[in-house]
Amino acid sequence: MLVNATNMLLKARDGHYAVGQFNINNLEWTKSILLTAQELNSPVILGVSEGAGKYMTGFKTVAAMVKAMDESLGITVPVALHLDHGTYEGAKACVAAGFTSIMFDGSHYDIEENVAKTTELVALAHDHGLSIEAEVGSIGGEEDGVVGMGEIADPAQCAMIAGLGIDFLAAGIGNIHGKYPANWKGLDFDALDKIHGATNNIPLVLHGGTGIPEDMIKKAISLGVSKINVNTECQLSFADATRKYIEAGKDLQGKGFDPRKLLAPGAEAIKATVREKIELFGSANKA
Ligand code: 13P
Repeated sequence: MLVNATNMLLKARDGHYAVGQFNINNLEWTKSILLTAQELNSPVILGVSEGAGKYMTGFKTVAAMVKAMDESLGITVPVALHLDHGTYEGAKACVAAGFTSIMFDGSHYDIEENVAKTTELVALAHDHGLSIEAEVGSIGGEEDGVVGMGEIADPAQCAMIAGLGIDFLAAGIGNIHGKYPANWKGLDFDALDKIHGATNNIPLVLHGGTGIPEDMIKKAISLGVSKINVNTECQLSFADATRKYIEAGKDLQGKGFDPRKLLAPGAEAIKATVREKIELFGSANKA
């Protein structure tokens, strides 16, 4: 059932668990995530980056596919279709395309411009019944082979952005996208505690969910994190299972080259990763 993400995240905040956002890249990804959320009776958020949107030929294609698949599979758990790290233009395009939720990532603008653009997009999103996430303190990660460390968001700026009527807030607390480097210092719980204290109990979002140890995930949830984003980990599981299938020569046996067979182990591996995360985040049976 396609819905915006507001209620599912308020429920998560009050129930002290988190809803997973799993990024999608194609039909197999979408199907694996939807089926697993349904099986575990869990709410779920499908994340679409601007790049993945382009890859799938545009946000309209994505919205049409997700809507149709949600119906065809008879999905009854709450599902939000969410733009991940949207630009100002991308956010507007997703509202028009029929997404149910958007993220506007204005963290690279100065705070005045982030405030102005976020304010405009809050009004647009809410007029159309969508939920909206904004970001303070950019989330680092690997770009062109260089791993940037995540910023620590300033609680006063978080309070300013949270006060604009957004539904949930992503705040940098030393988290980064992709694999964490060996010298990663871990999440800054002091900063998370301060941000939580300054933002009127708004559901907080933890980006870069791949590779964060279980105890840190649980502690983050206890300090107000209600949404956790996972992308790279599903990609790694998919690639690993696909490599094993090919290395075992299975694509050369019978009709093993049929994409429905070739992609099946990867799709099963995504399901296993999503299941593990939903259980860790505590959202099973919270649909
Ligand atoms: P990972 O790729 O590190 O799991 O991060 C996902 C994310 O935060 C998407 O916004």
